[in-house]
Amino acid sequence: MHIKVIDHHGTEHTLEALDGWRVMEVIRDWDVGIKAECGGACACATCHVYIDPEWLDRLAPPNDEEVDRLDDAPLVEAHSRLSCQILMSEDLDGLRLRLAPGSEPEAVAA
Ligand code: FES
Repeated sequence: MHIKVIDHHGTEHTLEALDGWRVMEVIRDWDVGIKAECGGACACATCHVYIDPEWLDRLAPPNDEEVDRLDDAPLVEAHSRLSCQILMSEDLDGLRLRLAPGSEPEAVAA
């Protein structure tokens, strides 16, 4: 299975993903560039992504912790999610998303 990720420069990457992985881990491990400062503990909001609206309804809804944490992220939109809170499954094969401002790794943001 795979996901499509538009990076901070507008380039789209098709990344192989494994069942049960967090979407954030897929993006990070393929070195596309995501800060994900807390490593997936839902404590930083630096893994903020914009889900392609066509895919939004296919995701499990965010829990209260994710909603609270998203309040800390800049430029939140209706299709914002934290990528560390989305687990890959067959249903999400082909998921498309864009990295949101504030999720750039330090070297890119500087
Ligand atoms: Fe920190 Fe997702 S990696 S909230």
